[in-house]
Amino acid sequence: MKLSLVLLWAASALTSPLRRSVAKLSSVTRNGTSLLVDGKVWKMVGPNVYWLGLDENVTPPAGEPFYAPTKASYPTKERITEAMATVQALGGTMIRGHTLGISTGNPLSVMPKPGVVNERAFDPIDWAVYQAGFDLNQRRDEKNPLVQQFYTNATIVATFKDYIKTIITHRNQYNNLTFAEDPTIFAYETGNELLGPVWGDMNSPADWVQDIAKYVKSLAPQKLVVDGTYGINKTHLGIDEVDIFSDHMYPVNTAKLQADIKLVEAAGRPFFIGEYDWVGGNTANLQSMFKIIEESPAVAGDTFWSQFGHNAPDCKTYVDHSDGLALQYGNPKNTANQNSRIQLIRKHFVAMSQGKEIPPDEPLPAVPCPAPTSPTFR
Ligand SMILES: *[C@@H]1O[C@H](CO)[C@@H](O)[C@H](O)[C@H]1NC(C)=O
Ligand SMILES: *[C@@H]1O[C@H](CO)[C@@H](O)[C@H](O)[C@H]1NC(C)=O
Ligand SMILES: *[C@@H]1O[C@H](CO)[C@@H](O)[C@H](O)[C@H]1NC(C)=O
Ligand SMILES: *[C@@H]1O[C@H](CO)[C@@H](O)[C@H](O)[C@H]1NC(C)=O
Repeated sequence: MKLSLVLLWAASALTSPLRRSVAKLSSVTRNGTSLLVDGKVWKMVGPNVYWLGLDENVTPPAGEPFYAPTKASYPTKERITEAMATVQALGGTMIRGHTLGISTGNPLSVMPKPGVVNERAFDPIDWAVYQAGFDLNQRRDEKNPLVQQFYTNATIVATFKDYIKTIITHRNQYNNLTFAEDPTIFAYETGNELLGPVWGDMNSPADWVQDIAKYVKSLAPQKLVVDGTYGINKTHLGIDEVDIFSDHMYPVNTAKLQADIKLVEAAGRPFFIGEYDWVGGNTANLQSMFKIIEESPAVAGDTFWSQFGHNAPDCKTYVDHSDGLALQYGNPKNTANQNSRIQLIRKHFVAMSQGKEIPPDEPLPAVPCPAPTSPTFR
């Protein structure tokens, strides 16, 4: 099994099928409300691993790149490969990877300033895309009208497109493929939780969404485009260049889920739950959500928020994140409740990705640390 990636842009994220084999990777395509790989229905289930390109949870050893004001550092290769191995153990098929696509505005990012490209930032990104391609058997509460300039100001839109072009035309140092060519990356998301000046307003203008989706497809005709608006904005459903619509569930809300599916299915497109709280609420609610997803052909899949792992190559300590939603697979300090939810997630992923029922109490497969890595091109 290999993994695919969704890359997200700017304000917000790269999605990749997780795939790990030297065998040639098939592209993910769309047929109406279904996603297909090699002519068969393919489901997009996995975690959000937002830190694969840039992280702010670990202070690196002295001398390593570190930008103190935002605590930015590059993740180690070992942390990245462990993330892939964990997704495989969970039965997932892909990763939603924000900082593979979103990387601007600090000295460690891909584009520290408009027009300035920092090649060093591509090392963890290239590594993550490359490793995913192998088979190893802040909430915004301001009401600032300037926000809308992100979509309407011609200079800002041009800068954003220049940034998109920098990412998509980049050639991976580990496999010599561009991010347009590499089938490991199956979708680009226009942003993460895009909105206007007011929280929840879904005000990313339809003409902007179409313009960006067209631009992505002009550079990468084979890639799918996910509308990164936070919620289903009905004015977007008619945009032909959008392949997948999505929403985030904080908290898990099955009524909202069903309403979203209905809207998107009627528009002839697959629906994807890009983020959800796997920790809060009662377990039965999480189970109900999984059941709806499994039984709805027009749901392409879901990615939980969010996965962390060891501070690899240190295989004794785990990296934590401040939001209380870090899923640390195999951590002996996990509570029974956390572990039973991880079991549920795995059962759900396997049902989605392999159409197979696993016993709910089947032990979680071990993930070795350090995790195996793929052979490299250089
Ligand atoms: C594509 O969708 C059409 C209409 O739903 C269906 O008839 C056809 O079999 C699908 N093709 C594949 C390859 O799944
Ligand atoms: C558009 O954005 C640019 C760059 O930030 C800025 O210089 C310009 O004043 C903005 N235009 C308007 C009309 O606000
Ligand atoms: C990488 O691909 C480019 C474009 O196809 C080609 O010109 C170049 O020779 C390749 N580099 C290596 C080291 O294979
Ligand atoms: C949806 O997007 C349109 C612009 O395309 C915007 O006018 C509207 O406010 C957005 N929100 C909703 C809830 O429709």
